[in-house]
Amino acid sequence: MSNPSLLILPGDGIGPEVMAEVRKIIGWYGANRGLNFDVSEDLVGGAAYDKHGTPLTDATMAKAQEVDAVLLGAVGGPKYDVLDFSVKPERGLLRLRKEMDLYANLRPAQCFDALADFSSLKKNVVAGLDIMIIRELTSGVYFGEPRGIFKEGNERVGINTQRYTESEIERVARSGFEMARKRGNKLCSMEKANVMESGVLWREVVQRIGDTEYPDVELSHMYADAGAMQLTRWPKQFDVIVTDNLFGDLLSDLAAMLTGSLGMLPSASLGAPMANGRPKALYEPVHGSAPDIAGQGKANPIACILSFAMALRYSFDQGDEATRLEKAVEAVLADGFRTADLLGEEGVSPVSTSEMGDAVLKALDASI
Ligand code: NAI
Ligand code: MG
Repeated sequence: MSNPSLLILPGDGIGPEVMAEVRKIIGWYGANRGLNFDVSEDLVGGAAYDKHGTPLTDATMAKAQEVDAVLLGAVGGPKYDVLDFSVKPERGLLRLRKEMDLYANLRPAQCFDALADFSSLKKNVVAGLDIMIIRELTSGVYFGEPRGIFKEGNERVGINTQRYTESEIERVARSGFEMARKRGNKLCSMEKANVMESGVLWREVVQRIGDTEYPDVELSHMYADAGAMQLTRWPKQFDVIVTDNLFGDLLSDLAAMLTGSLGMLPSASLGAPMANGRPKALYEPVHGSAPDIAGQGKANPIACILSFAMALRYSFDQGDEATRLEKAVEAVLADGFRTADLLGEEGVSPVSTSEMGDAVLKALDASI
């Protein structure tokens, strides 16, 4: 059997710097765990624009559709601010998500013990926190029609439309229930059924999928505003949350900050299963290209490394190896390794991007 395939798109700014550390880790798995990938690399975002005049070529798009998983660094940067909207670096990423139809965006919020002091919340509220937010990514108010700014009488009106079909709700609900089964068997669905018809339909459909297909999963519903309050009051009450595109955008950012730095946060965006049973998949850190620190060896590679751990778990059925990598990260943090974004404690000096990557490799070595 051939090796599973990975397309690496480092992108711009710190993207290539953090991806270099992931490459080391991919190499480690080949050398030490017999896990070999057919790795190819290509350009996306500003890097692709510089070479091809477009943030994503058709050839790269086609390649992304064929591989078992795509791993992306970050795109964007001030240099590209002057470009027309249609060729901005971010359009490359949006095209990938759209054409691969990646409808389930997985955003874990996990608090590493060593960083519990780093949270804006009290340590006992976040210590041990481990929740998963699933945000619908391809529909809802960011895509619904009609949209635009129109003239109405003698003033203008700005319009966006929250729109969800039953099948769009069904498929992301199933992602939520499947995730719940792999974790604590508990799913909380969030919408605003009290004021939005799309929310009424959302709640009804999620409940039906639960009753008919996942009666073993404990399902609850919450209004999204109350959900935001509960997430800051006592986040550990949740395990898996499923919600729409707009509320998911806000709630996942909120949950992310419960746990500390942007440099720590991975994500996965999954679509429908391909012929080989694996979902279409794109893994990427939550952060952007961090132009303020790009090229200085300061970036924290952990978000990108943990994104690869998610790939091991969700694309390659290597949950144990994913856990091994997460534990290696945990060990490195417990040993006091900190990139500049994680500083705050007295007497700790920062390590560089590659020193952090090397420390994770050492911890992996120690795990076998
Ligand atoms: P950003 O995430 O790039 O940076 C925000 C702040 O966090 C900066 O101070 C940065 O230095 C810091 N930071 C981010 N990642 C870090 C890491 N791994 N290690 C240490 N510090 C880190 O967001 P910003 O500044 O709003 O956007 C910069 C560019 O990135 C823009 O062009 C934006 O459009 C793009 N962007 C791209 C995203 C993507 O590729 N998915 C997501 C967000 C923004
Ligand atoms: Mg956001």
